[in-house]
Amino acid sequence: MCDLKIDILTIFPEMFKVPLSESIIGKARESGLIEINIYNIRDFTVDKHRMTDDYPFGGGAGMIMKPEPIFAATEYIQKKMGEPADRVILMTPQGKTLNQGMVKALAEEHHIIIICARYEGVDERLRDALVTDEISIGDYVLTGGELPAMVLVDAVTRFVPGVLSRDTLVNESFEKGVLDYPQYTRPRDFRGMIVPDVLISGNHEKIRLWRKKQALTRTLSRRPDLLEKASLDPEDYKLLRDIKSEQLSDLMREDPENEYD
Ligand code: ADE
Repeated sequence: MCDLKIDILTIFPEMFKVPLSESIIGKARESGLIEINIYNIRDFTVDKHRMTDDYPFGGGAGMIMKPEPIFAATEYIQKKMGEPADRVILMTPQGKTLNQGMVKALAEEHHIIIICARYEGVDERLRDALVTDEISIGDYVLTGGELPAMVLVDAVTRFVPGVLSRDTLVNESFEKGVLDYPQYTRPRDFRGMIVPDVLISGNHEKIRLWRKKQALTRTLSRRPDLLEKASLDPEDYKLLRDIKSEQLSDLMREDPENEYD
């Protein structure tokens, strides 16, 4: 039995073929850890022209996705499963912005249906009577919900038990609330850019501290907002104080009017 089943509704099923078959997601599907099915919304139309969109009532630009085929597809899937899905997610720039907490919560569900909207949007009755969550992948507008759905599935798959090692997940930056420290591999000297000595020293304690300090320095300069929510220990606070006082003395050294040097 797989842990998570995801059904995706789209009018462009071909778009999903490669991204959801390669690499980690492909392996997770092959080994049965996750089941992903792609449904073509057009297959659930009943009219002669197999229409999935129509003009908006009241006029205006663009086309609106019709409710009937999306309701029919969802009902078909839920009937096959014998119960309602845990979540019916609409990918839309109007949704809640995706974050790691939401990803983790979704990975704990058993059955998720994702609706990929196209055109100018969807008939509002889908929101009223079908959709449980609306998710955006960022404050920009894409041509449709297909790429956002792939982003969501990729992020969620990583948290399905057995897909990645626990170490990988526990050690990654968003888990601790700070960004990653810099990493290097061979060669030690690449075009005169030398790997920091401490990493070659073999002194594990020194390496651990160096990495921690680098991670904090990076977070402080790039994403200080993360530090407010990060779970920091007393050693982190000490390192942060060191970093700040080092930065302050660098600043004093650069100031031509500094009388204290
Ligand atoms: N559809 C179009 N743009 C989107 C976005 N940023 N997030 C989710 N779905 C979308």
